[in-house]
Amino acid sequence: MPRTLLISGASSGIGRAIATGLAAEGHRLSLGVRSPQALESTSLEPSAQVLLHTYEATQPASAEDWVTATVGRFGSIDGLIHCAGVFSRAGLLFGAEEAAEPERIWTVNLMGPWWLTRSAWPWLVRSGRGRIITLVSMSGKRVRGGLAAYATSKFALMALCDCMRQEGWDAGIRVTAICPSWVNTEMAAGVQAIPRQEMTQPEDLAAQVSLLLALPASAVPFELAISCQREW
Ligand SMILES: NC(=O)c1ccc[n+]([C@@H]2O[C@H](COP(=O)([O-])OP(=O)(O)OC[C@H]3O[C@@H](n4cnc5c(N)ncnc54)[C@H](OP(=O)(O)O)[C@@H]3O)[C@@H](O)[C@H]2O)c1
Repeated sequence: MPRTLLISGASSGIGRAIATGLAAEGHRLSLGVRSPQALESTSLEPSAQVLLHTYEATQPASAEDWVTATVGRFGSIDGLIHCAGVFSRAGLLFGAEEAAEPERIWTVNLMGPWWLTRSAWPWLVRSGRGRIITLVSMSGKRVRGGLAAYATSKFALMALCDCMRQEGWDAGIRVTAICPSWVNTEMAAGVQAIPRQEMTQPEDLAAQVSLLLALPASAVPFELAISCQREW
């Protein structure tokens, strides 16, 4: 049964692959992007099924505006797919020139999903079959590579997912944290350690999301750990 779904970070990479897959399956999509023109003349251009709305993850009011516009257009919200995120190599002993970096990363990666979830929550409850799918990371499960700013943001995001799961359960809301290692997107463009074709492909994560949305509430996994490398 089609859902009305908000997808952040739909302009590129994983979010775009997920949106493309879900559009083909007939879901109603509200795509939050910083530059709506990035999706003009693509399969995700505005239509009866697709709403494009500006969304800036660092601004709580932007989340509110996007939710209001979505409900105005479709009358309901049945799911959130949090894909907007930023990567950083700022480490534990970040340099003076990187002093603002941890807070910037936490704001986008943690507070962005938190503000958006808070804004959409009453509608997810009203849906009775709400779903929240969040692109966390393997960096939200283990620390590797000196990525303190990024890893701390993703560990906190994992905790946020658990809060959403606990507090939404009785209202029928189901939450899944997707935890990939390297995915072949712009975010991984600087990675030398593994060839791009050996990374997880965004289309394969999109297929996982389609499956998650098709599963009954009694069978939704809380966590999907997906690594293209040996982890343990
Ligand atoms: N690629 C990987 O290896 C990997 C692995 C594990 C987890 N992840 C996570 O997966 C998610 C998607 O990453 P990706 O690989 O698809 O990267 P990507 O291609 O760089 O896409 C990131 C998306 O986030 C959006 N975004 C960034 N800052 C934003 C802000 N302030 N407000 C609104 N949107 C913002 C970008 O929008 P613009 O186009 O406007 O910049 C873009 O759509 C992220 O949360 C990332 O941490 C990625």
